[in-house]
This record gives sequence, structure tokens and C-alpha cells, in this order.
Amino acid sequence: MPVTAARVENVLFEDQQPVPSDSRAELVSGLQKPQKQVNPKYFYDARGSELFEQITRLDEYYPTRTEIAILQRHAAEMADFCGPDCVLIEPGSGSSEKVRLLLDSVRPAAYVPLDISADFLYESAVKLGREFPWLQIHAICADFASQWHAHTELPAGRRVIFYPGSTIGNMEPSVARDFLANLRQWIGADGGVLIGVDLQKQEHLLNAAYNDASGVTADFNLNILNSINRIAGADFDADHFSHRAIYNRQLQRVEMHLVSDTSQTVNVNGGAIKFSKGETLHTENSYKYSLDDFHALITAAGYSLQKSWLDDKRLFSVHFLAVSA
Ligand code: AVJ
Repeated sequence: MPVTAARVENVLFEDQQPVPSDSRAELVSGLQKPQKQVNPKYFYDARGSELFEQITRLDEYYPTRTEIAILQRHAAEMADFCGPDCVLIEPGSGSSEKVRLLLDSVRPAAYVPLDISADFLYESAVKLGREFPWLQIHAICADFASQWHAHTELPAGRRVIFYPGSTIGNMEPSVARDFLANLRQWIGADGGVLIGVDLQKQEHLLNAAYNDASGVTADFNLNILNSINRIAGADFDADHFSHRAIYNRQLQRVEMHLVSDTSQTVNVNGGAIKFSKGETLHTENSYKYSLDDFHALITAAGYSLQKSWLDDKRLFSVHFLAVSA
């Protein structure tokens, strides 16, 4: 794994980008499954990260603005749970917009944003470092599901994971449980997790949030094909696929797919992948939890719930978890 570091003012940047051949192999194996699939982390190339920022500002996309209101309202109390001089680690930090709401209250010893999109992460970290000159920032470009922590040395202090945005919702519940359970090993027995989770709600609100009128989510979904083309040497034509997002009530998740408009063959890394007309590439799940189901999940992962914060309409939730004794 390549690890290079460069110092800019109060910002340390560490490169643990996934090796291209690993990403290629992962993409090809997903495309060879009976239900073709791609890990949603591949949405976040430079353009995808930008499109996601646009999604967060859409009228229909309630999660971001709702979670921001919860963070603003309860920042002081959240900071009390984090405790003094913690090391605040954010997997999938993107633009690091939400952490800004906490920093003046939490005053962490260091902030560790982790993101797969190198340029986007770098620019976001430098911008944050200028806005918060007192803050030590240790940015790591990595797949946060990887063993990135084995390759780095972080400052001393209680480890608190800041995991907003319901990113956890992209994982199957059993994978989410294992991910949270694994986190325990490196945050230690005194570690904490401040996590945002999207909640079950009326189906029409969910469908609207992932089918916005201006088509930004469609562009975001289709852009993953450009990302696959670049990484896996493929020749997907985004003009021959259509966006589909629909709530799967049985599995309690919004599913995003790209539907093949025609029967077509795509070349991927030297091999041929056939799509029949109407066949889909499954690009994302976004699980929506009940409070009870989320509580059961974190209990199974070895955490105890310290506190939950919700908005008045109970659209979204933020929780502070501590490792169980
Ligand atoms: C921030 C990754 C959780 O699932 O709602 C937004 C990504 N996908 N619109 C989500 C997303 C389609 C988002 N996550």
C-alpha cells in the first residue's frame, strides 16, 4: 500500500489510496454476478463527490439538512459525550461540512477525515485547516473499510468516530454490524461513536428523495459508469442506461439501479459483459432503520446506546454509542 505524506500548515495528508488492480478486480467480480452490482464507494470520483454535494442541497433530499439541524441544536451535549481532547475520526468525510458544526464545542486534539476521493479530500482538508487554524488535521485518503489504521499513527486521545449522513445505511445490516464490531478493536474499550442514521418514513418521501425533479440523483447514479470506465478500462455508455431508485419495503431499503435501455455488450478490462434489455446494475442500497432495529444492531455489535437525538418530524437520528463493558 503506497503511503506518502505531505505537510501543509496544520494539515497532514496521507495517501493510502486503494491499489488500482484491486479496485479493478472488485469491479469485475461485481459485474460477473447474476445480479450485477458495484460497491457504492465508486460513486465518489471528483465529479461524483461534487454531484453528491448537489444532492445534499436538493429540496427532496431531507437527510442532510435534517441532520445538520440536529447537530446544530445538540452540539454542546454531543461534545460532552465526546469528552475533552478526543481524536475525532470521520470515515467518508467528503467536504467535512458537518464536522464544522461540532468543532468549536468538541475541540478535538485532532480531526482525522478519511475519504476515497483524493483531490476532494485534500482540498476539503486544506480549506478546513484555514478556517480552524487551531485544529490539527490528519487527512487520510483510503477506503475506510480497509485496514487503514494499521498503516498510520494517530495522536493520543480518546478515539471518537464521527459517522454522519447515514453512510452506515449503504451496508447490509449484517455487514454494518461487523463493521461496527471491527471498529471496537481500534477505538479501544473507551472509544465512542457519534453516528447519523436515516429512519423509516412514508414511502413517497423516500422515493422523492432519490428521484429528484432536477435529475441530479440520476446524474450521480449514471456517473458511476464513468468511474468504472476509468478504473476498470471499461466502455460503458451512460446514454444507454437509465436511473432507477425505488423503496424496497420488504428489505427496508432504497435501491438504486442503472437499467440497461437495450441489449448491449460492454467491454470491461478485456472481457465482455452482456446486458439484456431491462437488466440492471445494482449501484446502491440505502437502508432505513427503526429505532428498535438500530438499537438491536449496535447491541449485537458490542455497543451501548448513550443518547439519541431526533428532529421533531422523526425523519433522521443521531446517536452516541459507547463500547459495551
Ligand atoms: C450519504 C451515502 C447515505 O444513501 O442517501 C444520495 C448517498 N445516494 N442519493 C444515501 C445517496 C443517492 C447517500 N449516503
